[in-house]
Amino acid sequence: MTAGIDDIAVYIPKLFLDATDFANARGMDPKKLEKGLGVSKMAIVDTNQDPACLASNACLRLMKKNKLSPEDIGRLYIATESALDESKAMNSYVIGMLEQVYGDGSFGHCGGIECKFACVSGSYALYDNANWIRAGEAENKSAIVIVSDIAKYELGSSGEYTQGAGAIAMLLNDNPRLLQFDPKVTSTSIRNEYDFYRPLGRETPIVHGQYSNLLYLIQVKNALELYKQKALSTGLIKPKEGETFLDYIDFLNMHLPYSTMGKKALAYLLRHEWRELPRWKSIIEKIGMEEPNPKNPIGTIESVLSDTEFMGKDHEFTKKFTQTEEFQEFYDSRLASSLIASKMIGNLYTASLYLGFRSCLEFEFQKGSDLAGKRFGFGSYGSGSSAMIFSGVIQPAYKEIVSDMNIESEVGQRVKLSLEDYEALHENKRSFNDSILNSKHEFVIVDIENKPESKGERRYAYTN
Ligand code: HMG
Repeated sequence: MTAGIDDIAVYIPKLFLDATDFANARGMDPKKLEKGLGVSKMAIVDTNQDPACLASNACLRLMKKNKLSPEDIGRLYIATESALDESKAMNSYVIGMLEQVYGDGSFGHCGGIECKFACVSGSYALYDNANWIRAGEAENKSAIVIVSDIAKYELGSSGEYTQGAGAIAMLLNDNPRLLQFDPKVTSTSIRNEYDFYRPLGRETPIVHGQYSNLLYLIQVKNALELYKQKALSTGLIKPKEGETFLDYIDFLNMHLPYSTMGKKALAYLLRHEWRELPRWKSIIEKIGMEEPNPKNPIGTIESVLSDTEFMGKDHEFTKKFTQTEEFQEFYDSRLASSLIASKMIGNLYTASLYLGFRSCLEFEFQKGSDLAGKRFGFGSYGSGSSAMIFSGVIQPAYKEIVSDMNIESEVGQRVKLSLEDYEALHENKRSFNDSILNSKHEFVIVDIENKPESKGERRYAYTN
């Protein structure tokens, strides 16, 4: 049995914070955000939006676009790290909103859960739902996986310039028009870590930024190593002498907490894979220095980060490596298109990887690339921490889906926030019924109960 992604819909809130305005207000060089991190705009939620609204808006778009009715859907899963409740799953809020459009009880048959593992949980949800389809349990129905998050960091922290918000809904079935998952190669890596976490009751995470960057790279590399073994042993990829399996991944989509993380990850993974190949010798000649090693090669992440001499040299080596034509060619042809949307929108946590996928499809199509039969590799990472690598092949019918993609028009007319309005929203100084925008044709919060017996109950409406 096959399974894959048939279609994908995006919902991004229309308010945004401009990175240059932000940098000027914080006394930073705007180039650090624009060039160093690849952030130009960050999507911000209005007072009457929460992650359940974002998820419902993305799901409604997916259903309307494909003229789906609730009977066509067998399961609905939501992956998020912006949970609204310790017990009640976000699915129930979303089903409640969708039933305002499709009728009370119309989703009664459509089970599912809220999944959590920081940014990687959407990938686990996709994998589990693909396996539900492969197992023949779907009975001609599709599954919907929604990834929805609000990436919010403390004011004045170094995470503040990597914020964003949005949701992506993906339709899965056994005859996908867009991407069919490669079987038996999905690989994971997991270990107990505190790189980024949000203890109960906190609205913003505790983050060890540089530690999280390095851990992301290591975890993705570990999962990729397992993927490689599976891809070779199943015969999915058969590299010839002097080649690497990465030569057979036509496009690479990485988790993007900020867009230059994709480039950082590509450089790290290519160094790891190319090191043993004949091509490395001429690359080293062009770089003009040997690859540095940490003082303690089997040390901890902390020991590597505190080895300032190694970190400095490694940074210099990576910079030079990314300037070689071998790297540039790989980057431009296989990764760059996936980074464009992230720059405009910011970190979407669980949805970031899939915004990158969406971005790659749209911008490669615009370039005139023929994507049919091309293999996409996905590098998913969630703090805490786990990585997942999987792949799939673009299907012949993909143009039906991709030719209409236009992220700017799908986001709609955006409204730039002043720093003052942004900070008031960030600090929850405005009530949910004091929204900045008067949104139309969207789900929004219309009430949040405060009485002890019903505290926290949320009511939503679809605005006309
Ligand atoms: P920072 O320490 O402020 O930034 O925080 P930096 O000093 O590392 O600089 C960033 C880049 O800008 C560097 O580029 C600088 O050189 C460059 P690189 O050397 O790495 O190529 N730069 C400049 N470029 C041009 N002109 C200038 C200039 N100045 C500097 N004037 C950090 C960066 C990402 C750590 C911070 O924003 C942060 O803590 N963010 C939140 C955590 C995060 O995003 N971690 C990423 C990996 S973990 C992950 O992805 C999981 C996550 O999504 C959560 C989840 O799973 O749920 C976060």
